Amino acid sequence: MGSQESSSMSLPILLLLTIVISYLFFCCIGVTAETNTLNQSDNLNFTQQLVSNNKNFTLGFVKPFVDYDNNNTYLAIWNSKYESPSSPVWIANRDTPITNASFATLFIHQTGKFVINRTRDGHPIQLCPGGETNNNNNVNYNNIKAVLLDNGNLVLTEVNSNGSVDRTLWQSFDCPTDTLLPGMKLGINHRTGRNWTLTSFLAPDDPSQGAFTLEWNPNSQELVVRRRGMSFWNSGILKNVSDDLGRMTFENLEVMESTLEYKYYRMRSNKSLDEEVFSYSLKYDPMDPSTYKSIKMRIDYTGAFSFAQNGLALSLEDLCYGYSTENGCAKWSQPKCRTDENTRFVLRSGGFANRPNSVGDGGHYDKNGTIGLADCRVRCWNDCDCQAYSKTVTVGCLTISKDTEFIPDPSGQAVRFYVIQRPQNERKTKKWIAISVSVCGVLLVSVTVIIFYWRWRRKVRKERRLLQLITSTDTIHNANELENDKDFAQNLKIFSFVSILEATNNFSVQNKLGQGGFGPVYKGKLAEGKEIAVKRLSKSSGQGLVEFKNELILIAKLQHMNLVRLLGCCVHNEEKLLIYEYMPNKSLDSFLFDASKRSILNWRMRVMIIEGISQGLLYLHQHSRLRIIHRDLKVSNILLDGEMNPKISDFGMARIFKRSELIANTNNPVGTYGYMSPEYAMDGIFSVKSDIFSFGVIILEILSGRRNNSFYDTKKPLNLIGHAWDLWEKGAGLELMDPTLSNSCFNQQFLRLVQIGLLCVEESSIDRPTISEVISMITNESTILPMVKKPAFTNLDSNIHANPQRNDTENNSINNVSISTMNGR
Ligand SMILES: *[C@@H]1O[C@H](CO)[C@@H](O)[C@H](O)[C@H]1NC(C)=O
Ligand SMILES: *[C@@H]1O[C@H](CO)[C@@H](O)[C@H](O)[C@H]1NC(C)=O
Ligand SMILES: *[C@@H]1O[C@H](CO)[C@@H](O)[C@H](O)[C@H]1NC(C)=O
Ligand SMILES: *[C@@H]1O[C@H](CO)[C@@H](O)[C@H](O)[C@H]1NC(C)=O
Repeated sequence: MGSQESSSMSLPILLLLTIVISYLFFCCIGVTAETNTLNQSDNLNFTQQLVSNNKNFTLGFVKPFVDYDNNNTYLAIWNSKYESPSSPVWIANRDTPITNASFATLFIHQTGKFVINRTRDGHPIQLCPGGETNNNNNVNYNNIKAVLLDNGNLVLTEVNSNGSVDRTLWQSFDCPTDTLLPGMKLGINHRTGRNWTLTSFLAPDDPSQGAFTLEWNPNSQELVVRRRGMSFWNSGILKNVSDDLGRMTFENLEVMESTLEYKYYRMRSNKSLDEEVFSYSLKYDPMDPSTYKSIKMRIDYTGAFSFAQNGLALSLEDLCYGYSTENGCAKWSQPKCRTDENTRFVLRSGGFANRPNSVGDGGHYDKNGTIGLADCRVRCWNDCDCQAYSKTVTVGCLTISKDTEFIPDPSGQAVRFYVIQRPQNERKTKKWIAISVSVCGVLLVSVTVIIFYWRWRRKVRKERRLLQLITSTDTIHNANELENDKDFAQNLKIFSFVSILEATNNFSVQNKLGQGGFGPVYKGKLAEGKEIAVKRLSKSSGQGLVEFKNELILIAKLQHMNLVRLLGCCVHNEEKLLIYEYMPNKSLDSFLFDASKRSILNWRMRVMIIEGISQGLLYLHQHSRLRIIHRDLKVSNILLDGEMNPKISDFGMARIFKRSELIANTNNPVGTYGYMSPEYAMDGIFSVKSDIFSFGVIILEILSGRRNNSFYDTKKPLNLIGHAWDLWEKGAGLELMDPTLSNSCFNQQFLRLVQIGLLCVEESSIDRPTISEVISMITNESTILPMVKKPAFTNLDSNIHANPQRNDTENNSINNVSISTMNGR
């Protein structure tokens, strides 16, 4: 009996041992014992790293941009708890990459300097020369050491005979790259002459000094961004916030508070005899333990200023065109051709064709390796002959002359360009009126009267025609499928434009709720007190009327508690408005991707939301009289009512199917990248399974609290699906869990939902479950889940984890084996 017991005991122990050993073998091979210190006699070679005490930061030789077919090695520091080496916070040799890492070593020279020796391919590189002690070649230290601290600072100190630190000779915080960590300084030291400034990368894959700098102006107490030395944007004065614990904020960042999460940062300006500096520390939010994740202020190669861990940035290039000093922008003079304030660069996908009688080849490619996208933008803007520049060429500059014609690619798959766009109709009308004024002042009155009368007539007619169009049964998508359309026309209320103007306070900015598929959405309050949401279809979207009708007809016919309810519509001139019931809790993304609100979404609520969406989808796909493919399911299209019940909205792109029809094809896939299934994005084929794909992405986003595209920042083409799959494959699915969900009692259910999410994003649409299968998987815990095959869009990261153990673990991915692997880390 005893021996039987011990042999049955030893099996799990053996299993555990195997797992631990193989883990050590695969993960820790080549890593020597961790240390945070480099002594004077030591070398750090490319296989070694310094790791700070708490493991917050790591220093080593890395190839952060190797995905871009670029083998450059840099000595870098990165946040090793929450980020990868591909998002370094500091780079020692940004302007002098090492091309052959095998020979690079870091050592401390006796004169108190840090040097990288790279014997085979060039001269030694001295790290960040300058400063107090760093230029003296006549001293000889014999007891110095370098330590990587837990705040990310690499410090070189002189140690006296009893082992304590005597003084700091050098520190990496004195040579910022493009990132300001808590405890770093921006500003000036008058005694040493040191000026702490951030300088952007040149390109996403090139950390050499780019166009933008971020500095502190102690006189005006504000942050200043310069583009190639010219003042570009300022943050406005650093001032007290009158709310709670004496925190401070910048004038021009106030409006972006929720986007920038800067409420977590305690900013301060410090003035002493020697120094005038800006710095910040972190205000820990007990409601959101993820506060500490990756705290940094950064200026990127496009001049986007970020001060948050959510990856959202304020794009200064889109904000500032030099026309005015609004929002902190600097003003500068414009070339003759750019004097219309509405002229803008717009990112568009497509190509350029020569005009019939044009001369030249239309494009100009400057390969100069010291200029980047930001410089190219300036070049194109200042050249009246330029109409666009390439987004794809990030080092050097590819500009396109006005001589060519832009051919847009509606699928959005083609190469992308920043194309100059300016409104023309208004200008012509103005000019015409101006001429008529000068020609004949007397005629003017009668002419205007006639014009106004004519416009009014046209307006009335058009309005009438639109209303007819909307309420007629002759609809664009399989209209014969729609029964009893007269009902619909009667149920739907037509609102007057004036009443909507009143309700939304003339579409005031304060009332704006967000941006929907085809235009902004405003909150309104009708005269009788009822709250409404008004979607204003943007005039510029050429397809506006089609989507308008589509959404109107569809949604008016659909009645389900997980679909948003349409109350009516309004047509006035060019204006097309849809009026919905108001959702006090806005959209799901406003909770999920807002660090301050995310913790409100507890586990029970998240499951409820996933279930609610699946019920809404079931109704669309199977239970309504029509089969409806939504085609643009995403987190921002899920609205939440007062009780946090989810409601699917935004039916502008939905398509109605005959019950017998299963798949369709379109030459023009519309939707949102990151949520589009491969067959839809690439071949335009859509079916209920493309909605299932989007739903799978939504599930993974709800579980992880991260956006599918939030990984762009790590410079790897790895999305949330790839990340989830990676973890799943390793048996570490629980690591996907949003850190605000720390309770472990739902681990099993969590893993089950991860698996369902992954099943929904399978590469092949046949492998994806139908919505009724999904619902039975969610609600019935005894349903056996199919194995996850490799999901779509994960083949981009083939260099990561080609772990052959997958087949053993995936069948029983929620059993104890995968969990013990987790705990073993
Ligand atoms: C790097 O240094 C470690 C420790 O000194 C040594 O074991 C290893 O062989 C070195 N690697 C190379 C490539 O020089
Ligand atoms: C990077 O290294 C690989 C393998 O050593 C080599 O094949 C490739 O040509 C290198 N790429 C560049 C851009 O130097
Ligand atoms: C290191 O990280 C831990 C949590 O991960 C944090 O509590 C600590 O404050 C960090 N240390 C520093 C110096 O930032
Ligand atoms: C590259 O551009 C920089 C900045 O505009 C300029 O100073 C330099 O002369 C250019 N180099 C070449 C080779 O044209």
